[in-house]
Amino acid sequence: MTDRIIENASLSDAEAISALFARSYSQLLKNDYAPDVLARAMPFLSFARPELISSGSYYVVKDASTRVIAAGGWTATRPGAPDEPVKPGWVHVRHFAVDPDFTGQGLGKMLFNHCVRDAKASYGATRFDAYATLSARKFYEKLGFTLIGPIEVSFGPDVTFPSLHMTCDV
Ligand SMILES: CC(C)(COP(=O)(O)OP(=O)(O)OC[C@H]1O[C@@H](n2cnc3c(N)ncnc32)[C@H](O)[C@@H]1OP(=O)(O)O)[C@@H](O)C(=O)NCCC(=O)NCCS
Repeated sequence: MTDRIIENASLSDAEAISALFARSYSQLLKNDYAPDVLARAMPFLSFARPELISSGSYYVVKDASTRVIAAGGWTATRPGAPDEPVKPGWVHVRHFAVDPDFTGQGLGKMLFNHCVRDAKASYGATRFDAYATLSARKFYEKLGFTLIGPIEVSFGPDVTFPSLHMTCDV
């Protein structure tokens, strides 16, 4: 893994991150979601939100050729609720994705461990929550998350996405 570099994402990575999301979510979620559900969600799943990308707590993993092969981060604000008061110590996993050609190589775990180190050091994080895709349940369980229950994440007035609310003390 010496040729894998993890760094803070910047707005100049946005296009590459969106392309990564499109590759990852379209291929890795298709066994767990009906095609119409996935098709409606893809514009939202594959959009690299500028405010998240430039938040300072969103990261990319690049290979030796500086191609973006994984991305993910954390925020104190809850996804979809930027104006809600934050809870001290409590943070949220945000928009994790690994290139389908690079899954199973520890990149997701590397990103999460980086998030934990950073969130503890800069924010005093004690708990991570995730709104996980159905496809990512076993990944999060391996990282120490437990299931709180199913949720429907709202992407807009007419688009909801079946997900799992999971949590992990860190
Ligand atoms: C979920 C995802 C990020 C995992 O990334 P990854 O780099 O393949 O995961 P890692 O290689 O770091 O795996 C970490 C551990 O989880 C396990 N794991 C990962 N995916 C798994 C799966 N689908 N089934 C069972 N175990 C899995 C690995 O075996 C590994 O276990 P180990 O620590 O005992 O070796 C990746 O599959 C992905 O991008 N999925 C599509 C997008 C998505 O669902 N993102 C989550 C948003 S909430």
